[in-house]
Amino acid sequence: MGAVLRADSLWKVYYTHETVVEAVRGIQLTIDTGEMIAVMGPSGCGKTTLLNVLSGIDDPSAGDVYVHEKSLYKGTENQRTDMRAEHFGFIYQNFNLLPVLTAVENVELPLLLNGVQPKEARSRSIEALDSVGLSDRLSHRPTELSGGQQQRVAIARAIVHRPAIVLCDEPTGNLDSATSKEIIALLKRMNQEHSMTFLIVTHDQSIADQCGRTISMVDGQIITQQHGIGSEEE
Ligand SMILES: Nc1ncnc2c1ncn2[C@@H]1O[C@H](COP(=O)(O)OP(=O)(O)OP(=O)(O)O)[C@@H](O)[C@H]1O
Ligand SMILES: [Mg+2]
Repeated sequence: MGAVLRADSLWKVYYTHETVVEAVRGIQLTIDTGEMIAVMGPSGCGKTTLLNVLSGIDDPSAGDVYVHEKSLYKGTENQRTDMRAEHFGFIYQNFNLLPVLTAVENVELPLLLNGVQPKEARSRSIEALDSVGLSDRLSHRPTELSGGQQQRVAIARAIVHRPAIVLCDEPTGNLDSATSKEIIALLKRMNQEHSMTFLIVTHDQSIADQCGRTISMVDGQIITQQHGIGSEEE
């Protein structure tokens, strides 16, 4: 179905007063629509930095990223912000929900910020929460939800605008193993049923086993790429 995301010679170098850290060093990566990919590697090897430069959150020091072959970094800052909002979904370890908003309000917020009419935003938000099994928790605030339920709200928020790719940074890092399994099963179902594309940073081999491809990073570079048991599509 073609590349949804492509990184070309991507570098990120941090300069601090006494050190230079080459966090991402010349990464080449092509992700096709419908892939579910795990990114693994030791702490500090550059996984989060890679997600940040792949998605326009942080400027790379060199190289570029292409979303459906359109450059993320050659345009203006505003164009990049728009591309990020339109094409990317994000799921984090600590859920990042706004505590004062209900589940349905958290999910519809990105749509409202993107100019979707309130009525449509609300119905799409309800639909997204339904797809993660939370139609009976719409008006709960994050503190009134379990960890797994909070992450489901975050997943609904990440997919509600139908992004080209969802980037996940240790999405089960704060969950117990049973809840982790449920969350990964949910991502896997979305991947299989709707060809949603996921790039998942994880330290958990059992999650990588569910993915079609595992990328191993060391010192800012991809050292191996393995196609796993989850890669039925190949
Ligand atoms: N803003 C920053 N300024 C300077 N150095 C940074 C910055 N952010 C990250 N680094 C450094 O870049 C390297 C990669 O960090 P990164 O957070 O990407 O690692 P990671 O693989 O996600 O690790 P973890 O598994 O612990 O989350 C580390 O050595 C880190 O200290
Ligand atoms: Mg990290």
